[in-house]
Amino acid sequence: MKISVIGAGNVGATCANVLAHSNFAQEVVLLDIKEGFSEGKSLDMFQTAAINSYSTRTIGVTNDYTATAGSAITIITSGVPRKPGMSRDDLIGINSKIVKSVTENVVKHSPDTIIIVVANPLDVMTYCAYLASGFDSNKVMGMAGILDTARYRAFLAMELGISPRDIQAVLMGGHGDTMVPLPRYTTVAGIPVTELVGEERLNAIIQRTKKGGGELVKLIGTSAWYAPGAAAAQMAETIAKDEKRIFPCCTWLTGQYGLSDIYLGVPVLLGKNGIEKILELDLNEKEMADLNHSATAVRGVMKVLDDMNIV
Ligand code: NAI
Ligand code: 2OP
Repeated sequence: MKISVIGAGNVGATCANVLAHSNFAQEVVLLDIKEGFSEGKSLDMFQTAAINSYSTRTIGVTNDYTATAGSAITIITSGVPRKPGMSRDDLIGINSKIVKSVTENVVKHSPDTIIIVVANPLDVMTYCAYLASGFDSNKVMGMAGILDTARYRAFLAMELGISPRDIQAVLMGGHGDTMVPLPRYTTVAGIPVTELVGEERLNAIIQRTKKGGGELVKLIGTSAWYAPGAAAAQMAETIAKDEKRIFPCCTWLTGQYGLSDIYLGVPVLLGKNGIEKILELDLNEKEMADLNHSATAVRGVMKVLDDMNIV
């Protein structure tokens, strides 16, 4: 199996590295427009294979899409990241042109690929790739929910002094400050989180999760990459192995939760066909209001893309 990662920057290179370590793909192709950048990073990665005992071949190319031909899965990370003071939505003008042209090239060489978008603003860049690809929506999805729940689980684990592995959580909505972490669907080894963490602390953790990306931009000066790269790799691995796992992913809604014609984060079942099912939770009034608020924010940015008339 071949997996391609477009953009060999912080997130793309991390994602390729995690995929290589997972050792299930024969080839991971890393593509960037910067001359020699992907070649160098993928060579450095492959030189860890003997040390880390994996066989996946990492291959780097400069804008040569023939090397990506026949990819089962393609992860699009190409795009500029946030700098301090910028919102994810500020990136739309530059990143939509990149995502559109990258998607067209990807599809030309891999007509059967499944596309996972990472570039921001995530929900709208996923919509952009969907339009540019002409694919069915089950084959075009965005990565955000796994990252955002991983942050939420990390903060809860830090609060409780336990392993994040034992925390299960659902988070919905757009990848931005309007995201909707759901304490009612958060458990710690099967125990409702509300039995272990008081309301005030839980609210503080939810607020920190919503601003989790911004916290890292302030600390690092650019956006995060370890958790984003690992999250995108987890989606690819689940699809490649047809694992039928359930994750929050950015997907095209066709009436679920009363929402249509929008890319938004909801729990989905991932398998070899991409998004195989959208799960509909029985949200209460407040949760539904929060989800609608998030959908309105995403629709506003979708309109900016539509008004640009580029896809
Ligand atoms: P980066 O700047 O480190 O890497 C981006 C790479 O894309 C650069 O190497 C650049 O040369 C390349 N690139 C630009 N135009 C290209 C094109 N037309 N074809 C191929 N490659 C091209 O940025 P980083 O940190 O890797 O972030 C990438 C994107 O992912 C950003 O838009 C960022 O906001 C987003 N992001 C999304 C997250 C999510 O949860 N969905 C989390 C973290 C980042
Ligand atoms: C993040 O959440 C900026 O989307 C990026 O880290």
